[in-house]
Amino acid sequence: MNYIYSKVSSETKFFGNTDPIQLSEKYETPLYVYNENILRKRCRDLKGLISYSNFTVNYSLKANSNLELIKIVRSEGLRVDAMSPGEIYLNMLAGYKPKEVLFISNNINEDEFNYAIRAGVNISVDSVSQLDLFGKINPGGRVAFRLNPGVGAGHHEKVRTAGKKTKFGIEMSSIPEVKRIIKEYNLKLIGINQHIGSLFMDSEAYLTSTGNILSIARQFDDLEFIDLGGGFGIPYNKQSNQPRLDLKELGGKLSEVINSWVLEYGKDIEFKIEPGRYIVAESGILLGKVNAVKTNYNIKYIGTDLGFNVLIRPVMYDSHHDIEIYRGNATSSLKEETVTIVGNICETGDIIAKDRKLPEIIENDILGVLDSGAYGYSMSSNYNNRLRPAEVLLDADGNPRLIRRRDTLDDLIRNFIL
Ligand code: LLP
Repeated sequence: MNYIYSKVSSETKFFGNTDPIQLSEKYETPLYVYNENILRKRCRDLKGLISYSNFTVNYSLKANSNLELIKIVRSEGLRVDAMSPGEIYLNMLAGYKPKEVLFISNNINEDEFNYAIRAGVNISVDSVSQLDLFGKINPGGRVAFRLNPGVGAGHHEKVRTAGKKTKFGIEMSSIPEVKRIIKEYNLKLIGINQHIGSLFMDSEAYLTSTGNILSIARQFDDLEFIDLGGGFGIPYNKQSNQPRLDLKELGGKLSEVINSWVLEYGKDIEFKIEPGRYIVAESGILLGKVNAVKTNYNIKYIGTDLGFNVLIRPVMYDSHHDIEIYRGNATSSLKEETVTIVGNICETGDIIAKDRKLPEIIENDILGVLDSGAYGYSMSSNYNNRLRPAEVLLDADGNPRLIRRRDTLDDLIRNFIL
């Protein structure tokens, strides 16, 4: 086994008792590989974020909803959120009790409200209009609402979910209407939540928004929880030594604010956060195979099976993922060159890494796309009628186990009326 360019995964002993070549031979590519130890470590990092004792971490499974991974997260004592009836269903299947689930709804219909009410999960609404609908369906019911605290954060405008230019949450000036509807339908307001956006590496906006939600929460007497949201970033540029988010500093500041707010409020209500990416991103490496190498008008293309149906983040948000190179035989690559790594989808935008300086890549190399555990498989599709990949878990002892099989051709036609 000759790892050509694999510093990050070697340092974390990511592949345990196996290696990427063996995995790609046994399970084929493209293949998502997850490391259980890293997943558990990230759950523990966030459980220890603040010193306040009534603190809960809700895993946001939109980042990765593989049932086996949810079960591991649950065994670490995390709770969960849900964005849809499908996510409520999966959470129950993973063993969560209804009251451990917070359904953060967004523009849902009456049937979806009824599904969540019958399931018995906690429900948060995203607008005054949806609060009114909830009140009509379920007068006297328990409900939370999502606040838009006026500040957003995030790695791309598409994922900034608070502030003045987003569909999410109830703006602060609408609070009087919220109060009126709560009174009209005799609702019990159990909590207020927010989520300002995805992937911040600097915690200033998170702290500002925490101040804003706390000032609104003070106006309601009988809350059970306040949810500050997710968005905790991870360093995607590990090969260039990008520093991690300073959780110690953020946790210290949050603990201070929360402890003093609670004293004033007079009740040690629950505080939640709802991270997705931070929990799972680093526990996943996507393996793909180099099928062709060519130069077109001075650009060298590395043609792989990593189409954007498998990992859409680079195409959708221009996201960077570090790339590793693994080779089964003894030839090593000495010279570096600038290449563009592409997939097998019929669109020019099907690029996984553009103008990347890497050791020379040759046909049949296996590539590892780092930090692809979050928003990788969960955003994959069958575009071009390609099959979605398999997923393998490397357990705590470093041994691989298949946790989702690759699609088959039959899966492609499953819903047709034949
Ligand atoms: N809570 C709510 C209400 C959310 O909408 C999200 C993410 C989260 C929590 C978790 O955020 P996280 O901790 O993972 O940043 N597909 C994009 C990210 C979209 C995030 C959507 N909402 C990406 O690949 O970067």
